[in-house]
Amino acid sequence: MRIDTMSVVVARIEDGVLLMEINNPPVNALSQPVRAGLVEALERLAADDTLRGGVIAGAGGTFIAGADIKEFGKPPAPPLLPDVLAAIEACPKPVVAALQGAALGGGLELALACDARVAQAGTVLGLPEVALGIIPGAGGTQRLPRLTGVSTALRLIGTGERLSAEAAKALGIVDEVAPDAVSAAIACRPGKRPVSKLPVPAEAADVIAKAEAAALKAGKSRPAVMEAIAAVKAAATLPFAEGLAQERDAFLNLRTSPEAAALRHMFFAEREAVRLPAALRAKPRRVETVAVIGAGTMGRGIAQSALEAGLTVILYDLNAELLATAGEALRTALAERAAAGKIAADLAGNARLVLARTWADIVPADLVIEAVFEDLAVKQEVFRQIDAHARLGAVLATNTSYLDVDVIAAATARPQDVLGLHFFSPANVMKLLEVVRGAHSAPDLAATGMEFGKHLKKLPVLCGNGFGFIGNRIYNAYRTQCEYMLEDGAWPEDIDTALETFGFAMGPFAVADLSGLDIAWRMRAAQAAMRDARKRYVPVLDHLCEQGRFGRKSGAGYYTYAEGRRSAGTDDTVRSIIEAASAARGLTRRTLAPEIIQRRSLAAMVNEAALLLAGGIAQRASDIDVVLVQGYGFPRFAGGPVYWARTQDRTTLERDLDIIAAATGFGFERGPLDLLLTESAP
Ligand code: 3HC
Repeated sequence: MRIDTMSVVVARIEDGVLLMEINNPPVNALSQPVRAGLVEALERLAADDTLRGGVIAGAGGTFIAGADIKEFGKPPAPPLLPDVLAAIEACPKPVVAALQGAALGGGLELALACDARVAQAGTVLGLPEVALGIIPGAGGTQRLPRLTGVSTALRLIGTGERLSAEAAKALGIVDEVAPDAVSAAIACRPGKRPVSKLPVPAEAADVIAKAEAAALKAGKSRPAVMEAIAAVKAAATLPFAEGLAQERDAFLNLRTSPEAAALRHMFFAEREAVRLPAALRAKPRRVETVAVIGAGTMGRGIAQSALEAGLTVILYDLNAELLATAGEALRTALAERAAAGKIAADLAGNARLVLARTWADIVPADLVIEAVFEDLAVKQEVFRQIDAHARLGAVLATNTSYLDVDVIAAATARPQDVLGLHFFSPANVMKLLEVVRGAHSAPDLAATGMEFGKHLKKLPVLCGNGFGFIGNRIYNAYRTQCEYMLEDGAWPEDIDTALETFGFAMGPFAVADLSGLDIAWRMRAAQAAMRDARKRYVPVLDHLCEQGRFGRKSGAGYYTYAEGRRSAGTDDTVRSIIEAASAARGLTRRTLAPEIIQRRSLAAMVNEAALLLAGGIAQRASDIDVVLVQGYGFPRFAGGPVYWARTQDRTTLERDLDIIAAATGFGFERGPLDLLLTESAP
């Protein structure tokens, strides 16, 4: 019998139990009306003598994905989540949580306040708050350790790890895994047994210390991780109510922090990035079989991603030995992934991998991805072959990272079927995928590329066709500015340290050493004749390569490497090369403060971002943030270069642009800051 229908919490009686079903699409976030609806339903449960208990469930295939992240920037409106949880505990009847889909953040905290938890197979559980720069704010840090012990709670809350229903059962977080959580929860008769009354299980100090160190390392000691650790450890020493109050204080402080705001921006930017603007929406072409041309590192990574997504892969290479090695490596990698439980066992078999040495073998492919050497002539020749053999209507993609997609497409008689799919290395790991529309790409190609990316569980971002697309174009401007700073007076380690302090995973010269200097050297040599002599050019990299310093792989580049470890600073050889470059330009070297280095580097990114947006290469400003954070080590907690720019004082930002304009000299193009700072997504 249905007894009440509220807008977001529907309560009905089943078998003497009040089933409270949250209906707040898309993910049943705990927005204010949900909280109010739950409190009201719980009051009915407490007051009605005919009811033996309650079940909280979610409609639409999911339990609760957490607090409503959209509410975080606004003043909290009662009832607050802790009030709802207190009402569950205070209710004289037992309340059971029926979990399915996602039970995350505040959703899991709500479940932990219930007297029992039943999870449907396939449920994902976790307290991922640190990823949003906050900690659980409704008792998660106090209740979870009472079920799992402090060390496991440190791992789960400190890293935001997500668990399967079975794993959560093994850890004692859920009581039962069932095929149908709601009926199992209705059948369950747990009695009143609040987690808050349980003692925290005792553990050896060194086990806790190890878990703490691991969480700190994984979370790069960011403020939310430190607070999460402190709150979880407090559960073992403080009475529940005190621990709860401390947790809430820390949560409220973090919630309004700039870092949490930046992380929320990234959360929504990533969800926006995968959406096509209305004008580009179309029915994607069907992609079930993918041909990957080139069995090198990139080709293998792409092949692995596609195989893990359940697609059939034809891996083509002329070199029989390379092909056989790639086939073997792929089989091993997939078997290892299956053994580790990362992919389903049936995806590990090699039935869907075809190793091909003749072009005719690519005929069945719905999508052909070229992943050969980054050289225009080589790619054009490959595309002529693809054009001659791929079936009509197949999508032809280039994995170029800089080259002009239209020029590559012109090597075929069907440029309408050509687009860029720029994967990042290692392609089976990195989530970012730049989907590049050519001038002649058919209207359904953008949708096909984006859909393909999503199917591979990547984060596809749509780009226009222009040198380096979004990511490499900005990175190039940034690295060039860093080279100018070398000549102006900074050493590579000054620049790397300043940028690593800002939060980059690695500074630009450490990155250059890692990827190898010789490729850039060859590219520069090839472009030398076309270079305008009036443009500022820093020859340091060329001189390093002339001395056989190709980076980490040759034992020396900007830094030296002993047993794979980077030297703390640069040696005399590098310093004299840099000093000679400064002298040749007539510059008196002067020290650059870390803040100057950071601002000049970021200003170079921001300026290029403005140019990209104005040129239509990026369709929204927030896409640029997604690309830089996902693909180039820009600190997520700073929100990407555009977000960073929007938090800066405008006059200072303009002055930064003046500085990089002066440093660049001839050929500097100033981006339209107004557009970048005010653009809102279409
Ligand atoms: N609040 C508001 N909106 C949310 C949300 C949340 N907690 N979680 C997801 N959404 C929205 C997304 O923005 C998206 O909206 P859109 O369609 O308008 O873009 C929609 O729900 C679907 O999300 P996804 O595109 O991510 O869909 P998926 O199916 O791929 O993933 C999910 C679903 C696993 C639930 C994933 O969205 C997710 O991980 N969400 C975040 C969960 C989270 O971080 N929870 C903790 C919140 S903080 C908290 O609870 C504080 C507490 O301790 C007090």
